[in-house]
Amino acid sequence: MISRAKSEALFAEALLHIPGGVNSPVRAFRAVGGQPFFVDRAKGARVWDVDGNELIDYVGTWGPAILGHAHPRIIAAVQAAAERGTSFGIPNPLEVTMARIVKAAVPSVEKVRMTSSGTEACMSAIRLARGFTKRDKIIKFDGCYHGHVDSLLVKAGSGALTFGNPDSAGVPAAFTQHTIVLPFNDAESVKAAFAANPGQIAGIILEPVPGNAGLYPPRPGYLEALREITQQEGALLIFDEVMTGFRLARGGAQQRFGIRPDLSCFGKIIGGGLPVGAFGGRGEIMDCLAPLGPVYQAGTLSGNPLAMAAGIAALEELEVSGAYYKLEELSEQLKAGLRDAAKSASVSVTFNACGSMFCGYFIDGPVHNLADAMRSDRARFAKYFHGMLEEGIYIAPSQFEGGFISAAHTSEDIDATVRAAAKVMKTF
Ligand SMILES: Cc1ncc(COP(=O)(O)O)c(C=O)c1O
Repeated sequence: MISRAKSEALFAEALLHIPGGVNSPVRAFRAVGGQPFFVDRAKGARVWDVDGNELIDYVGTWGPAILGHAHPRIIAAVQAAAERGTSFGIPNPLEVTMARIVKAAVPSVEKVRMTSSGTEACMSAIRLARGFTKRDKIIKFDGCYHGHVDSLLVKAGSGALTFGNPDSAGVPAAFTQHTIVLPFNDAESVKAAFAANPGQIAGIILEPVPGNAGLYPPRPGYLEALREITQQEGALLIFDEVMTGFRLARGGAQQRFGIRPDLSCFGKIIGGGLPVGAFGGRGEIMDCLAPLGPVYQAGTLSGNPLAMAAGIAALEELEVSGAYYKLEELSEQLKAGLRDAAKSASVSVTFNACGSMFCGYFIDGPVHNLADAMRSDRARFAKYFHGMLEEGIYIAPSQFEGGFISAAHTSEDIDATVRAAAKVMKTF
């Protein structure tokens, strides 16, 4: 049994000062039981906890660490930027460089604005879509997370055309009454929603590959159908690529699936591990933002020089390093290995993967949406999670989170992970 005495002491103290001991709920291990460990340092594909235990990390700070932790190019860029000042609140050249890089990688983005988080990016994109179309209603899909924005904190609606109920205390029902929640991967329900709300829907926001309820890729033709419907209806298609941007391809899910949304949201990778978000899209829409247009949006730390420097370094390294080929190969290796491991242990697992994002659901049968994902055996997942942790493998502490492979993982890391999974599943 691995000792985590120092982590336990820190968590006991954290509970006295921080609600639930954590600064973001999923870190608290509530979905799997037990207590979180505290990190001392991280490098490449590994993290070391304060008790000195080494772990192969598949959380990757929830997505940003696509190059692995503490990449030398990013560290050097942050150090150099810090020497020149940590925040200006005045335009700085790095903001222009970042905008140029994002535009070059994502052709649907003609103009882009930086924020300090993915939440702000999605919140602002929704406001902009409403301001541009002069319509109030927004379609989102159950299981898709777009940050803790009031109007988007709505999960499964009771029926395809009902308006959402808030998912959190403190969100007045009036704030979500314009949010229509539909099942993912079902284009017919989207058509029906537009038919029931003619001329009222500003847009559809979605994770093109939802990664906040595990992972389920879009069915063939689904994203195309959403593009067609929104175009016909004069509504905007908003891709939340906070997770998928610069991960599923340099141009994100929209490149991988060949779809051109009107607006896109980014975060995570484009900050190189520093706090960041961005949203961008068609020029005529983006020009509705203040100071040019009537849609207000702002931020003291938006375009922060440290975040820009880290993000630019990450995006440049991704371009020159051939990382995406490696990530696809590692993902294939992991997928094949885990499927074999589950088979040899006679455990039912549905393994979904898209590029370097993956999720194994303890379930028999396909997972295409939240309702499918909810059928998975969460008690079994909790056992798997703790078993893997004991074996030195850190996966996200919830069945409803995806995993991330980084370019710092090696084929040997994947082999070790598969061996650990086989060992743990044999105990089921
Ligand atoms: C798809 C998606 N959108 C938005 C967000 C919110 O981003 P942030 O946590 O930076 O506010 C997340 C965070 O996990 C996300 O996965």
